[in-house]
Amino acid sequence: MQKIIDKLQLELKAAFEKAGYDEKYAKVTLSNRPDLCQFQCNGALAAAKEYKKAPLQMAEEVAGILKDSATFLEISAQKPGFINMILSHEFLADHVNDMAGEKGFGVDFAEKKETIVIDYGGANVAKPLHVGHLRSAIIGESIKRTAKYMGHKVIGDAHLGDWGLQIGLIITELKHREPELVYFDEAYDDEYPAEPPFTMADLEEIYPYASGYSKEHEDYKEEAQKAVAELQAGRKGYLALWKHILDVSMADLRKIYAKLNVDFDLWKKESDAQPYIPDMVQGMKDGGYAHIDEGALVVDVKEETDTKEIPPCMILKSNGATLYNTTDLATIVERKKLFDPDKIIYVVDKRQGLYFEQVFRCAKKTKIIGEDVDLIFLGFGTMNGKDGKPFKTREGGVLRLENLLAEVTEEVEKKMADRDMEEEVKRETAAKIALAAIKYGDLSNQASKDYVFDMERFTSFEGNTGPYILYTIVRIKSLMKKLEDMGISVSEDTKILPAAHKTQTDLMLALSKWSETVESAFAEQAPHKICQFVYELSDAFNKFYHENKIATNEDADVRASHVKLSLVTGEILETAIDLLGLEAPERM
Ligand code: ARG
Repeated sequence: MQKIIDKLQLELKAAFEKAGYDEKYAKVTLSNRPDLCQFQCNGALAAAKEYKKAPLQMAEEVAGILKDSATFLEISAQKPGFINMILSHEFLADHVNDMAGEKGFGVDFAEKKETIVIDYGGANVAKPLHVGHLRSAIIGESIKRTAKYMGHKVIGDAHLGDWGLQIGLIITELKHREPELVYFDEAYDDEYPAEPPFTMADLEEIYPYASGYSKEHEDYKEEAQKAVAELQAGRKGYLALWKHILDVSMADLRKIYAKLNVDFDLWKKESDAQPYIPDMVQGMKDGGYAHIDEGALVVDVKEETDTKEIPPCMILKSNGATLYNTTDLATIVERKKLFDPDKIIYVVDKRQGLYFEQVFRCAKKTKIIGEDVDLIFLGFGTMNGKDGKPFKTREGGVLRLENLLAEVTEEVEKKMADRDMEEEVKRETAAKIALAAIKYGDLSNQASKDYVFDMERFTSFEGNTGPYILYTIVRIKSLMKKLEDMGISVSEDTKILPAAHKTQTDLMLALSKWSETVESAFAEQAPHKICQFVYELSDAFNKFYHENKIATNEDADVRASHVKLSLVTGEILETAIDLLGLEAPERM
């Protein structure tokens, strides 16, 4: 569906032409002085050079041509050569009525359906989640939902880390504690027990202990490294232990991600890419892309235009071991084979930016993926505490997601202390609000920026926060319930009337930005644009709600129009928060 800006653009183009100027100058933008007008065109200023005329005179000519157009309430030339526009109430209401009748409220869904793999989450089995994993999950989930909404085929992959040193450390520590376990007996050739020899709680204690110990004891660390190498070489007892670690840990991760309302289409792991490595490495050698450098196999990836040093991409260490890179490259091979994607988007800490640059260049150079496939790195910043350091929970430890959720939920419950609600319902409601507080607090910042986790601000029911957005939706839901009780309903044919009050105009204007918001949030992988939209829309709705009689309006047509406007607002808000991965409660 045509956007307001596009409609205006067409009119302005025709007017520029009619006045004898090139239509390329008819560029319309949102006004940067919303107190003066809604849209503006600065084209006369740019055209002045070409036509050697005063810009104000040209702006006046163009505005003069359009002064009787039904599109505008007002179109005027302003010094030094701006064209300021205010839409007519009829034009704006028509536009919103058209939106209301369209699927997706006028979003231009993808014409060409792309296959997009989104690599997000990236948790490591048997290791505690940290804030980076939390951010990846929150941002990736929103990008995934938005891409799906746009009509693409999207595969969200958790890409769990299950092939690194952490496994070696756990195996080593277990061996020290319980050397009699069958997994360590190389002569054992029976079935291994189905029951794991540890619980998640055990792993949570074992890993940090072993990791700390290895930092002080070189021989222990070497033992762990050897265990990884043996595991990767296929030692049966170790593979069985690894499988146990995976099962125990994944069950826990599934619970955590479910709590976050994050769901992956695919639960692949680094280990799944390992079978692709031998052929891939052979191909890199045969193609003449890889060479030996100090015993290691590397691919040069620097380019002439580089302004900073881009080191070669190491494929195999001198002892033949594979690296994080090797796995990521093999995962590209695997994804190409399984999905033949048009795009792969990686939602990872921005400190891995250089690393991904190397991996992407290497993948293209060695032709494991075509030039036409878009490899996109979406690097995010750090979630800091108020002390400016990476966030820690109240007890000061690494983030346990349950703890964070519990702390925020507790804070929200405090705010809801006076609500007349069953305890059970209150707890569930508070949990939903807490999740919205965390997610919205994250998503409302441009992903690449660091931000401060501010419990007070994020859980506030006022201002640019998740709870405020949910509050607005709940307000609309209860308005709808009240109307239902009163026997008032609207139909598809109910029309929104031209605005008779500024709050109505502002609400319609806010609504009209929906399609371009979703489209650009998708194209730029920018969930913060959706946040900004929902905030402006919520704010506009709440002002409208306070200034206008809705359910009790004496004029039946006006009442129906207001109800319809509220209904459309509610539907768009709910669609938008779903793209952010939030859910609104019934009451709050
Ligand atoms: N497991 C990694 C970490 O904890 C993140 C994985 C990111 N994705 C990737 N394809 N490398 O840092």
